[in-house]
Amino acid sequence: MAFYSRLLGVPWVYERLRIALLGGGPAGDVFGWLGDTREDILIDIGCGTGMAMDRLGAVAEYHGFDTDARALQRFRRRALPENVHLYNAAVTQADLDRIQPTKAIMMGLLHHLADAKAAGLLSMLARCPTVRSAITLDPVLIDGKPLNNLLCRLDRGSHVRTRPQYEALIQAAGFEAVRAEVLPSGNGAAFYFCTLLSRNQE
Ligand SMILES: C[S@@+](CC[C@H](N)C(=O)[O-])C[C@H]1O[C@@H](n2cnc3c(N)ncnc32)[C@H](O)[C@@H]1O
Repeated sequence: MAFYSRLLGVPWVYERLRIALLGGGPAGDVFGWLGDTREDILIDIGCGTGMAMDRLGAVAEYHGFDTDARALQRFRRRALPENVHLYNAAVTQADLDRIQPTKAIMMGLLHHLADAKAAGLLSMLARCPTVRSAITLDPVLIDGKPLNNLLCRLDRGSHVRTRPQYEALIQAAGFEAVRAEVLPSGNGAAFYFCTLLSRNQE
């Protein structure tokens, strides 16, 4: 298992294997849930190798954060416009105060974070007055789907959850899921819990 995790940690392997074994995922659809981003300041937490660059249209600013230096190295090999900023770090309150993001991207992030860390990050974003919406996508454990659940257990993220567990985290943080769907990979072998979140301002 440790070898498998290390192998998937190589950015090239992660990108190619995921597409070859699963026939791609629903990320393209979920990015679309962000709507028009031309005026937006986007913060992409767990930006990885820069998959967002292939999915997003025009943006005012893009700020990508990732704790994995190797993934960011690969991201930097892309031809990046001047409004793209990358940080090899976890996001802090000071980052949010400075960047003032309007939309947040957390694709494949929450299942890498233990409950306390995920709750801390989500509530920091939910309290950020400039954030209007956020998207998430994570593998999800489902009763009666043994192949999906095996893939979840093999995932590099060690906090894959059930749909109700993800929903509880999101709600407790002060976000409302205005859209929440379990969507299949291209070949139907794996499933992902995907959300469009808006800040609950009550
Ligand atoms: C499954 S990958 C997703 C990458 C990219 N968003 C995508 O969809 O292709 C999860 C990424 O989250 C990063 N990550 C894990 N914990 C993090 C944290 N606390 N802050 C920022 N990035 C983190 C990992 O290094 C990894 O690159």
